[in-house]
Amino acid sequence: QQSDEELIELIERVKKEMESRLYLPGHHYQKDEVIQFADDTGDSLKLAQLSADNGKADYIVFCGVHFMAETADILTSSHQLVILPDMRAGCSMADMADYSQTEEAWRVLTSQYGDTIIPLTYVNSTAEIKAFVGRHGGACVTSSNAKQIVKWALEQKKRILFLPDQHLGRNTAFDLGIPLKQMRVYNPGTKMLEGDQKGLDEVRVLLWKGHCSVHENFRMDHVRKFREEEPDRNILVHPECTWDVVQASDYAGSTSYIIEKIRTAPNGSKWAIGTEMNLVKRLINANPHLDIVSVNPLMCPCLTMNRIDLPHLAWALECVAENKPVNTINVPADVAGDGKLALERMLALV
Ligand code: 13P
Ligand code: SF4
Repeated sequence: QQSDEELIELIERVKKEMESRLYLPGHHYQKDEVIQFADDTGDSLKLAQLSADNGKADYIVFCGVHFMAETADILTSSHQLVILPDMRAGCSMADMADYSQTEEAWRVLTSQYGDTIIPLTYVNSTAEIKAFVGRHGGACVTSSNAKQIVKWALEQKKRILFLPDQHLGRNTAFDLGIPLKQMRVYNPGTKMLEGDQKGLDEVRVLLWKGHCSVHENFRMDHVRKFREEEPDRNILVHPECTWDVVQASDYAGSTSYIIEKIRTAPNGSKWAIGTEMNLVKRLINANPHLDIVSVNPLMCPCLTMNRIDLPHLAWALECVAENKPVNTINVPADVAGDGKLALERMLALV
């Protein structure tokens, strides 16, 4: 068992030895003990763009979750190896849209609506789902570009199928002026659209029944309590929160948007933030001139993001230094090819 000091020394040594042959992107939800070593930090969009632009690194050790490492693997050249320090770092939301269920949904929905639907997928999805979307003319979205991409998609076809996060889909479409009555949740269990079966012809937004188990913990009872007890506290949430929470909040946006909002906040202002715990804690510690709390007083960790820790990072880097890389992400070529279509359509639009 190595001490933290030894692990830190090992990581620093490998980074120094490998120089630009090694690249460490880190998502904003990563722990401090990991993010301190990131070459770049960012939200999902920025990390996708940086991976696409990085031609130099032979090894990309991705400090984030599995779908992000897959995205990096799809976008980088074949000589570059993408490594996820712990393969258990998944995303429960991405796991909510399974490939065969998606094919079945497409069959059900196109038999009802014909050729009037374009599929979109949040990047928080498996490579197979991105490939499905790419094959059917659709694109990926992230929380920072969802509005532009949904707008583009609705210019292509009358309807969208939005996978796998119903909340981001609903919040974005509503923001674009689409009323809730023109949205329906598709339930992959019943293979049906939920709710009122009247007015289905008017539906424009078909939302996959998926969600983020972290962001669903920021609830209306929390928001109401702040409004009653501290009306001067600004409420700032991620759009993976439910529609009512986003509507009741003052601001909603991606992790980068949240960071920027806090960076430019007036001295002494009060904030309640509804997003993953590591980011909220970091914002609290970095901004003693502000009064920041989590929307949910229990704070909400993403357990899978937290799988990447000092021992796993040190182990992955040590294996790279010994030229015996572990936990490499290898998206099969056909899946990567179609997935890339969906990602590139997104990147061309933003
Ligand atoms: P962004 O960093 O793109 O806002 O995404 C948040 C997220 O849930 C990543 O899993
Ligand atoms: Fe997935 Fe939610 Fe964790 Fe993001 S915060 S990685 S969407 S489970």
